[in-house]
Amino acid sequence: MSGADIPYQLRPSKFIDRQIFVELLGRLLQTRGPESYIYVSMGGRHLVDHYAVYKELGIKAQFSFDKDSNQVARQVFNRPTDATVCALMDSADLPARMDDIAEKFPAKRNFIVWLDYTGTNYRTQLQEAEEILVRLKHGDVFRITMNADGRNLKQGSGTPQERAAKRADALREKLGGANVPTSVTSIGDAPMSLADVLVWCVSLACSKAKLRVPNLNYIPVLNTSYADGQRMLTVTCVVSESAAKEPFPASSYSRWAFACKSWDKIHDIAVPVLSAKERFRLDANLQKAGKKMLAALKFFPADDEELSLMEMASYKRFQRFYPAFRHVDD
Ligand SMILES: C[S@@+](CC[C@H](N)C(=O)[O-])C[C@H]1O[C@@H](n2cnc3c(N)ncnc32)[C@H](O)[C@@H]1O
Repeated sequence: MSGADIPYQLRPSKFIDRQIFVELLGRLLQTRGPESYIYVSMGGRHLVDHYAVYKELGIKAQFSFDKDSNQVARQVFNRPTDATVCALMDSADLPARMDDIAEKFPAKRNFIVWLDYTGTNYRTQLQEAEEILVRLKHGDVFRITMNADGRNLKQGSGTPQERAAKRADALREKLGGANVPTSVTSIGDAPMSLADVLVWCVSLACSKAKLRVPNLNYIPVLNTSYADGQRMLTVTCVVSESAAKEPFPASSYSRWAFACKSWDKIHDIAVPVLSAKERFRLDANLQKAGKKMLAALKFFPADDEELSLMEMASYKRFQRFYPAFRHVDD
């Protein structure tokens, strides 16, 4: 079962990741106003992210695309309002279509673009990212999700060290040697190993874009990773023009709990999958230390105590975003 097919109840981290993004947008867009933005992403079959930005920020100018025509037909059926445009399109064509999309919403002045990839065609993905970045302007927001699961890289058999070295070779082969730091000689089994390299690759794509458009700065504002099924990395950055009168992001952004201090800082969202009863118990013990929270449960939600304690720490950080699923007639 691919990540996309796992029901949301069983992948709370993706949901949390999206909710933090929406909260970030709320902060970033305060001064320019959400109503001046066009939201562009691969919304998937149910356009969950489009619903979130519509319901929580009021953004109606929306464009969704997918390379699969049946997904697009389903998107048209599910779109939050009849202003949402759903198009059959590959992400490769997005850079060339940005002007057309802007023309569909003539009163809007800024873009939020999210490339929500699931595959591992990193070289193409990063090239597409760069082509979009050079077309953005002051006040725009760019987000990219990449598959950061090291198990997808060719690793052969051998000792853990040999497999880690083979993964680094495989990544270099995929991306081209110049696009992977020379210091990366192994990609180990630690959860964030590949994510740490890919975030560097995204920062390199931003540097390449800046060389082409020197008056623009690409500033990281939120880096997250989670592994509901496959491990994923999501990087969000904003576009800021050096000479702009109104700074972007505004200074209040730096006070946000998840504000990004540097490219290499990634928030790992590693919350447990909880039943409603488990969640209520943890919520009643949220101010306590991890060990006491576990004692309140009387079992380990992960494989052992160490992993369960890590999950408790993550749950404390992200609890307010944790999905609460209810019957529609509740
Ligand atoms: C992960 S889902 C999107 C989920 C959605 N953004 C959300 O927040 O729930 C990714 C979608 O993008 C489509 N897709 C993947 N790669 C694509 C590409 N290169 N161009 C266009 N669509 C693509 C897939 O068919 C899938 O429907």
